[in-house]
Amino acid sequence: MGKGVKVVDDNSKISVPLLKNNEPEPEVVEEKPKKVSIRQLWRYAQGPDLIMVFIGILVSTITGVGMPLMSIVVGDLSDSFIKMTTHQEHPNDTCVTSANETWSECYTDDMFKKAVLTNVYYYLILGFAVLIAAFTQVTCFLVSGENMIHRMRKAFFKSIMRQDISWFDKNNSGTLTTKLFDNLERVKEGTGDKMGLLIQFLAQFFGGFIIAFSYDWKLTLIMMSLSPLLVCCGLFMAKLMASSAAKEAKQYAAAGAIAEQALTSIRTVVAFNGEKHECDRYDSALVEGKNTGVLKSVYIGVGLASTFVVMFSSYCLAFWIGTNFIANGTMEPKTVLTVFFSVMMGSMALGQAGQQFAVLGIAQGAASAIFEIIDRDPEIDPYSNKGVKPDNIQGHIVIENIEFSYPTRKDVKILEGISFDALPGQTVALVGSSGCGKSTIVQLLLRYYNPDNGKIIIDGHELSEINIHFLRNMIGVVSQEPILFNCSIEENIQYGNDD
Ligand SMILES: Nc1ncnc2c1ncn2[C@@H]1O[C@H](COP(=O)(O)OP(=O)(O)OP(=O)(O)O)[C@@H](O)[C@H]1O
Ligand SMILES: [Mg+2]
Repeated sequence: MGKGVKVVDDNSKISVPLLKNNEPEPEVVEEKPKKVSIRQLWRYAQGPDLIMVFIGILVSTITGVGMPLMSIVVGDLSDSFIKMTTHQEHPNDTCVTSANETWSECYTDDMFKKAVLTNVYYYLILGFAVLIAAFTQVTCFLVSGENMIHRMRKAFFKSIMRQDISWFDKNNSGTLTTKLFDNLERVKEGTGDKMGLLIQFLAQFFGGFIIAFSYDWKLTLIMMSLSPLLVCCGLFMAKLMASSAAKEAKQYAAAGAIAEQALTSIRTVVAFNGEKHECDRYDSALVEGKNTGVLKSVYIGVGLASTFVVMFSSYCLAFWIGTNFIANGTMEPKTVLTVFFSVMMGSMALGQAGQQFAVLGIAQGAASAIFEIIDRDPEIDPYSNKGVKPDNIQGHIVIENIEFSYPTRKDVKILEGISFDALPGQTVALVGSSGCGKSTIVQLLLRYYNPDNGKIIIDGHELSEINIHFLRNMIGVVSQEPILFNCSIEENIQYGNDD
């Protein structure tokens, strides 16, 4: 048996998870933030889902364009109001549109009623169109997203079940369940209605500016002159928020790890009266996260405030210059209003689209961590059909010069060239001090791990040649710390075998 390793601790099994908690290094999966492409994000979408996404994109455009279209109606309506007011207050002044007529002649009550009614109908039509479009948009994106996540969830769990034990040594179950819920939720968010909102806001942005430019490009450009400042504020806020959010998440994760460690080893904590110590440790870990959270809130406050200052300044500029244009007769009041509202809706939409882009980015990152696991081909694959399935197994086990160290502790050699023979029908006991590698040999026999050197041969077939599923079906094992299902011992023994 492993002659070089003399392990002092009397419960080697328990030392392993504790070791993992103290050393966060083996977290291989979360190395650097990777992102999948947009196409990849929808890789679990099937035909009907793609059709729904397509319809969703179309109707999102309609919902988006609907908002700036309203600014045209607002412009026309206010034009009617202005004309009607002039008609009432200065009925004898000459009309703007025809020099021979007075206001009482060129703009009658009927004309006013008709103009207002027409615009009211436009509002109705727009409202109805947006109602249908918004409903279809949200439904299409949510339903297709839900379908896709359902498939992804199944594939993800199936693929976790397929991984080899050494992979589970490196990825603790807490992280995996978090991924199963949190990351999938992020992907769902990014591919669901938020995606619809993204397209809607983009359409609103483009629609707004196209309308504004087509009504009056000069005023639009003047209103846009402060946009670079707005973009700077947005970028500044997004950057600070992203970095502090990441920091906050990390700090809370560290606090979470402390809580998890204390809870999983609660008996040890209680035995040493360590409750207060653990509470203090958790408290101090929480403080950092809270401080980062407070700082993040300040950033959000400053960012929002400066955004509003810039926005209102540009409105102020628009009305100031717009009034001059109206005064010197180069522009109609309704144009000023339409341009003003279009630009306002367009630029507001850009800000909101930015938020949705962030959601999409998070979804791409979250999907990457999931797909990495789904796409991982384990070295030892229990779903594989490869390998021999010998008909008649006698059970002659030959262990030949096995050398082994656990993948998570490469530097500690557990088995250093052990060899023995177990004949069919023979009862073999492995005897040795705790931690010398007895259970390890059984784990190698079940092919949880591949040995670094040497061979395990069953009836002349090398272990690596035998089909994994067949091998594990053939071996009955009661492990050191058995987990019993809620039934009789006999039924427990029968559990692994369908027949
Ligand atoms: N998954 C693992 N990852 C890393 N090291 C491990 C792992 N499992 C066991 N070890 C280490 O390998 C060594 C051998 O462990 P093993 O469980 O084979 O001992 P054992 O001979 O069965 O001991 P015992 O008599 O206490 O059951 C111990 O030092 C243990 O800490
Ligand atoms: Mg053991």
